[in-house]
Amino acid sequence: MVKSTDFDKDFVWGVAASAFQTEGAVDTDGKGLSIWDEFSRKKGKIFKGHVADISSDFYNHYTRDIALMKSMHINHFRFSFSWSRIFPNGIGEVNAKGVAFYDRVIELCLELGIKPWVTLYHWDLPLALQQKMGWVNRDIVDYFSEYVAFCINHFGDRVKHWMILNEPMVYTGAGYFLGIHAPGKKGVDNFIPAIHHSALSQAAGIRIAQQLRTDLEVGTTFSCSAIHPYTYKEKDIKAAKRVDALVNRLFVEPLNGLGYPTDELPFLKRIEKYMHPGDDDALFAEPDFIGIQNYTREVVKHSYFTPYINSSLVHAKKRVQDVTEMDWEIYPQSMHEMLHHFSKYNFKKIYVTENGAAFPDIVDNGNVNDIKRINYLQSNIAEILKAKNEGVNVNGYFVWSFTDNFEWAEGYRPRFGLVHIDYETQKRIIKASGHWYSNFLSEI
Ligand code: FCB
Repeated sequence: MVKSTDFDKDFVWGVAASAFQTEGAVDTDGKGLSIWDEFSRKKGKIFKGHVADISSDFYNHYTRDIALMKSMHINHFRFSFSWSRIFPNGIGEVNAKGVAFYDRVIELCLELGIKPWVTLYHWDLPLALQQKMGWVNRDIVDYFSEYVAFCINHFGDRVKHWMILNEPMVYTGAGYFLGIHAPGKKGVDNFIPAIHHSALSQAAGIRIAQQLRTDLEVGTTFSCSAIHPYTYKEKDIKAAKRVDALVNRLFVEPLNGLGYPTDELPFLKRIEKYMHPGDDDALFAEPDFIGIQNYTREVVKHSYFTPYINSSLVHAKKRVQDVTEMDWEIYPQSMHEMLHHFSKYNFKKIYVTENGAAFPDIVDNGNVNDIKRINYLQSNIAEILKAKNEGVNVNGYFVWSFTDNFEWAEGYRPRFGLVHIDYETQKRIIKASGHWYSNFLSEI
């Protein structure tokens, strides 16, 4: 069985979370609303109408949560800033109380010997900026740049690890094409400009952070899944290539100076309409690392009726595969394949900034015996070790997530935590997986 001592001494082991999913305190101490605060209030958007106004209440419980983390030997904590807690209107006036909250969180981490890894954008755009069309409006690049500069100037003396964006493919795809995530916009006329302005912001954010301070590790994170054809028929193989371009190449390639993958995705050529002179260069940056986030793989087949990509997913259940509570196939080899895929781009470092699984946990006599989650984590870590031993420059791993939290459109139904949350009482129980991770880390 895989052990932490199979990795180098300086391999980073941590846990990940995000502001909107855990903080609650939706309008406390001057916080402005975000697109998710608004979207989750709309009828029929979230499982059983759940909202994240309280969630696991990290805003009020951060002291005990971070102390619990320390007691579990976890020394790296990835979390995000809520942009509208810092700038209630997205730009302009700073909310001192919001800034003070993150100062407290960071200082407590440092006091306990936990390194904070901050994500600047984990999907909760200030609502005030969505009223200016959000990521569809090119001005977002300037608004975002101001926010990045403020955060680096204020927190950069203490926070040394930064992630500019979390999974741009997911928030542009689900939020601006499919309309199933905030802000609920649909269609290519929203999607295409949202892609381009996110890609520009991603690169601008990296450059700004690096220019402001030279003592930081600055990166950004990408969602990814191995994409496999349903059959070996030529048309299914081609369908898999298109989906792979969309899912695994769209944001990393422009950052890497390769431009958008328009050869596989002709509909993307419409992006030219939004390109200004100099944009080809502006899309490029040299991050100190990239984060990859992998949970599953997808199997796809050719489909005449699906616009733009002529491909459709063949769901895991239909293929009679083991799935998690999200209906995501359990397929740890995807991690190995994705590490090799991203390794090709030759970035300085790769971290696995998210990986984990939701299962229907049961509290029995004060215990949660989540064996399936332990197996999932172990088998993914084993795939990382394999890739590392084959030469992939992977330097760390973060479990999603420390505690159970609000899983976007799925509400509180899926539980991803190493720590169970009773949302009625805010009681925390370390699950068997949390004890397992703690023991695993104690061997280092
Ligand atoms: C990722 C998100 C994260 C969480 C996990 C399950 O796509 O970055 O916030 O929802 O999925």
